[in-house]
Amino acid sequence: MNIEQQMIASGARIRDAMQKLEGAPVKLCVLVDDDGRLVRTVVDGDLRRALLAGLSLDSLVEELPEQGVVSLAEGAPPEAVLRYFQEYPAVSAIVVTNPEGRPTGLIQRKEHEAGILLSPPHMGMRETTYVQKAFEDNWIAPAGPNLAAFEEALKPASGRQHTLALSSGTAAIHLALRVLNIGANDRVYVSDLTFAASLQPILYEKAKPVLINSEPDSWNMSPQALERRLKTDAEAGCLPKAVIVVHLYGQSANLDAILPLTEAYGIPVIEDAAESLGATFGNRASGAHGLMAAFSFNGNKIITTSGGGALVSDREDLIEKARNLATQGRDYAEHYQHSQIAYNYRMSNVLAGIGLGQLELLAQRVERRREIFETYRSHLSEVPGIEFQAEPAGSRGNRWLTVISLDPDEISRHPYQLLRDLRSKGIEEPPGVEADAYATALQGAGF
Ligand SMILES: Cc1ncc(COP(=O)(O)O)c(C=O)c1O
Repeated sequence: MNIEQQMIASGARIRDAMQKLEGAPVKLCVLVDDDGRLVRTVVDGDLRRALLAGLSLDSLVEELPEQGVVSLAEGAPPEAVLRYFQEYPAVSAIVVTNPEGRPTGLIQRKEHEAGILLSPPHMGMRETTYVQKAFEDNWIAPAGPNLAAFEEALKPASGRQHTLALSSGTAAIHLALRVLNIGANDRVYVSDLTFAASLQPILYEKAKPVLINSEPDSWNMSPQALERRLKTDAEAGCLPKAVIVVHLYGQSANLDAILPLTEAYGIPVIEDAAESLGATFGNRASGAHGLMAAFSFNGNKIITTSGGGALVSDREDLIEKARNLATQGRDYAEHYQHSQIAYNYRMSNVLAGIGLGQLELLAQRVERRREIFETYRSHLSEVPGIEFQAEPAGSRGNRWLTVISLDPDEISRHPYQLLRDLRSKGIEEPPGVEADAYATALQGAGF
């Protein structure tokens, strides 16, 4: 933004200020004296009040009632900006001045409050075109050409032959469990370092989640921990009905080691690939290895449909069963007949249009996230006590989020302190969950 576009000079009249405001990118005028130094700011409300108080369009702006000016010196730290905005809740922008007191820029509240977001969506004209088409053709339903095309486009992206677009990734995991007839008291193994949505559907079915420890390098399910647990449970006669393997932060788990173990016991694997679209493991897409995989297109994911998900598999029978369950489980009858509990889980044709546009740019999004990861790593990897998630040989993560772990022996600050510091600088972050804390919470809830 060019500050000149906001400036009015000494001697300007109310009419000039109004005209300036009309065309200015930010609805605020910056009045400067004959030396170009900041005198005050003027907004619409100041002019309206002045006219009501009896001034005219030809009155000088300098005749407006005096008012404090919110300005900051160039190079002021983000904390100072934040303090100003907190102190003056009505101020929409702060003028930045150089050492001579001349305005050099504006900091807008809306931009500052947006800060550095964790994983914002990126929308473009492609998405608008598909969505507009849905409106023009009146396909505002959980069916239609965008949905069919999105499911087609998901096939190469997920490396699967059959795809089902849904209202969320959580719905996809839930349907995977239902398709496998998992019910009350069945045990389901799940990676212990994950988001709650990997477990919630297990609880919907009153099944029992069993948390499997993660390995220190990839932060994903440890094949050794899985092997130990399978052996113990086989001996005790309580093997699980399924294993949910999470690909955390877009990095695939070690399926080369995990799948032979589960296959030896005949246990199906559901990949929770909610975060890993666009990643690869071996020479196949992440999500193309287990019996089924779930993806998420939530607003914070690498691509989004605002909210959405997909269940994918190479087994047509499983996806067709899930499709039926996702559409209220109607029986194959001419009339409405339903003989099972089912859901309204389909993605709408409008949202699939967003997904179609987003998928076209998936490869670029992955490259950009990987660049962001590299930027952080190049600046921070020498700091003792900071570790980045590894990318084991043969895998390529999408680096959906760049995450660090802190070694408490090396880093004296508590992680929450660090999070507060980041927040105070306008940087968004999610608090990490320690696996132990999660396990304790689950135990507290009776698991
Ligand atoms: C690991 C993991 N599993 C499942 C989900 C659930 O996806 P959704 O938010 O689309 O329901 C998410 C994302 O939110 C996730 O990160």
